[in-house]
Parts: sequence; C-alpha cells; structure tokens
Amino acid sequence: MKLKDPSLLRSKAYINGEWVDAVDGRVFGVHNPANGKLIIEVADLNADAVTHAIDAAVPAQKSWAATPAKTRAMILRRWHDLVIENTDDLAIILTTEMGKPLAESKGEIAYGASFIDWFGEEARRVCGDVMESPQVDKRLLTFKQPIGVFGAITPWNFPIAMIARKVAPGLAAGCACVLKPAEQTPLSALALAELATRAGIPPGVMNIVTGIDAPAIGKALCADDRIRKMTFTGSTEVGRILMRQSASTVKKMSLELGGNAPLLVFNDANLDVAIEGAMLSKYRNAGQTCVCANRIFVQDGIYDEFAKRLAEKSAAINVGDGLDDGVDQGPLIDQQGYKKVLAHVDDAISKGAKVLTGGKSHKMGGTFFEPTVLTDMDSSMKMFREETFGPVAGIFRFTDEEEAIKAANDTEFGLAAYLFTENTSRLFRVSEALEYGIVAVNTGIFSSEVGPFGGVKNSGLGREGSKYGIDEFLEIKFVCIGI
Ligand code: SIN
Repeated sequence: MKLKDPSLLRSKAYINGEWVDAVDGRVFGVHNPANGKLIIEVADLNADAVTHAIDAAVPAQKSWAATPAKTRAMILRRWHDLVIENTDDLAIILTTEMGKPLAESKGEIAYGASFIDWFGEEARRVCGDVMESPQVDKRLLTFKQPIGVFGAITPWNFPIAMIARKVAPGLAAGCACVLKPAEQTPLSALALAELATRAGIPPGVMNIVTGIDAPAIGKALCADDRIRKMTFTGSTEVGRILMRQSASTVKKMSLELGGNAPLLVFNDANLDVAIEGAMLSKYRNAGQTCVCANRIFVQDGIYDEFAKRLAEKSAAINVGDGLDDGVDQGPLIDQQGYKKVLAHVDDAISKGAKVLTGGKSHKMGGTFFEPTVLTDMDSSMKMFREETFGPVAGIFRFTDEEEAIKAANDTEFGLAAYLFTENTSRLFRVSEALEYGIVAVNTGIFSSEVGPFGGVKNSGLGREGSKYGIDEFLEIKFVCIGI
C-alpha cells in the first residue's frame, strides 16, 4: 500500500493513548476483498482488553467532560481538518480493506468528516432550560450532561463514516468511547484514531479494541456497568442480542439495524429522475448499504420502459478493483455476502423472475458480482423479505397507490423508503403513509450530517447525525431549587 504518510497504517489496537498488542500476542489477518491478499495482521484483542479500555476511559471521560465545550469543539475541528487533509491516504486504506472504488471512498471520507465538523459545532450549543415554576418558592432548571463512557460497534460498509457518526457526537457531548470496528475493516478505524491523537483528543477518550471475537467483545461492553450507552450499526439479529445483553445494566441504546428499502415509482414520475435515483440508491457501495433500494415497485404504465432503461444503465457499470481508474463497482465484502446475493438471485429466478442483465458472478471472479436487474418479482421471493446487500435490482409491478403502500410497508423493517412522483398531493400522502424513519422523494441519495438518520420497527432505535444526534449521548438532569 503506497501512502504519503505510512504512519497512518496501524496494526495495533489503541487504548489509553497507546498502541497495544494483544496480551497473548494474537493477531488476525485483514484481506483485500478485490484479490483476497493479506494486507496486514492486526492485534486480536479479547474481552479482558475491553475491561482495560473501560478502566482507561472512565477517568479520561471525567476530565474530558470538564474541558470547556469550546476546547472540545476546537479539537474536533482539528480532527476534521486532519481527516480532510489526509483524504488520499485514508481513501487508499479504505478501498484496500473494503473494496469500494476510490472515488466512493473519498466521498465517504468527506461524509464522515462532515459529522466531526457538525458535532464539533453542536458541542457549543448544548443548552439546558429554565422553566416557569408552579410554586413561588421554587426555581426549576435542567442541565444536559454527558452520559459517560459509551461502547460503539461499527460496520465494515462505511468504515470511516459510521465511526465518525457515532464517535463525534459522543466526544462533542463530553463522553469517552470504547470502539470495536468491524474485523474486516479495522485499518480505517486505526487511521482515524491516529488523526484524533494528532488533533489533541486526550488519551483514554477514544479507545479502539480490534479483534475477531465480536460476540465476546460486544458482550463485555454490554455487561460492564460503567458503559452507560451502546451504539451499534449492523444486523437486526445482532442488535437484539446487544439489547438483551444490555438489559441487566439498563443502558441507553442507539441501534441502526437492517433495512428492506422500498423504492416506489409512479406513472406520474419524471422517468429520468427516477432512473437516476434508482441507480444511485441501488448501486451505492455495490448495494451494500442499509438504505439501498431493496425492492423497486414500479407502476404498470411505465414498468417496461423503466426496467429496460435501468437494465441498460446497469449493464454499463464498470466492475473492477476499486483502486483502478474508472471503476464504478468493487467486489462484495466477503464470501458470506457473495453467497447471500447469489442465493437471492437464484431464488428469484427459480420462482419466475426474468434476468434483464447480470444475474451471476462477474468474470473478475472472487466476490465480484454482476450488476443485475430482475423483473417479474413477487412477494414469495427472498428479496421481498430480506435485505440482499448486493448489486441486484428486483423490480415489482403495482397497479395503484394503495397496493404500493401496502407492499412497501409489508416488512418488519422501517429504515428508508424512496418515492418518485411529480404529483404534490401524492408526495405528501405517500410520505405520510410509509412506515419508515426516512423517506426520500425524487432523489436516490439523502444522507448528510444535517438530516436525522435512523429507523422504526425492527430497523432500530435513535437518530444519528442532525441536531438530534448529540442528544443520544446526553442525560437531562432536572434541578429543583427551593428559595
Ligand atoms: C448504512 O448503510 O448503514 C449507512 C448509509 C448512510 O449513511 O447513508
């Protein structure tokens, strides 16, 4: 890996401001999904290391919370600037361990940095209230105080942005964290920690526990009473486990879990806008985001035209190693992800779906998969119920608005939904009827630091980013003063 600053490539865990090995010297390999080659071996820590990290985080949090918000904001701002300045190196690290094309990695780094910038600003605007008292001899106030030390478990699909979206609001609020990055992508997390240190984030405030035993590390975080909050992005199945494990210590939870995003295209949509939106939503990160369109519902009148044009555009996607020029889509993260995508496609075809383009492993081999468009989809197919997490656009047909809303809501999930229409009344009606935390109208991309990100139903709890994101890391204390 050729970096301008090779010291950004770290292989040790980061606890209490020090780069540490596992006590028993164990390591695990991080591999490039584009070619399967070993990039580097990283410290494989266990549950005891979690306790060690919490031991460091507890006193560090107290002094970090006592640091003026303005100082915390300035440090976060420096961290943001360093992330931006080191975009080229961070993008190489990210693409090498995760596979997304360099341009997408750079986009993710800017997206991640925007949370650091935003929450640095928010740090200075944490305000309590003074309330009108119902009694003449009392004065009533609220303080907003940091919740304490939090545990964060982050996914491989956005190895920088999901850390920034969780850690920045926590640090802005005056909390400290113990973070477990995905075992597939620890290198981006460690590079971020290196930059956080350079920015002046004190020892113990941001701790990174790398390791492959995610269940043991997660359990240790949940079981420790000193961790007052857990924040997790990943599957609903794991989210439920973390919630159960956190019950005995009654932790606050933020869970950004699975999705099964519907994308509704009505006859009255602008077809160019709808196709552009579907391409962006479907193929971002090779279909590996929780908010990628998973079920595309198209109304009768434009179904054939939409499917044909989407297939033409999909067939033109350039698949390859994300480090190469001109590549639009990299490999899937691993064999497990690849097998799930293949199983969904095979299931759909066996139940009557037609392949307009793609439908199989890409000639690059490994975990590369062809951008795929399937028509004649129906609700008996796996893709209707489960998140595919791959570059497969399954198109379902509908006749009227009521039918489309019913099908879109017929899922345990409720993260993001998309809607394409030029009819303003429909826009409001359908947006209100969709049981989702996020509704994107006439666009395939909505994520930013400003909009609240999060789901309803089995897609999770809490909101990340936005003016609401910092509240997840704050407690409200009511102070009643007799005078
Ligand atoms: C995710 O897939 O979990 C995050 C996607 C986003 O932030 O847009």
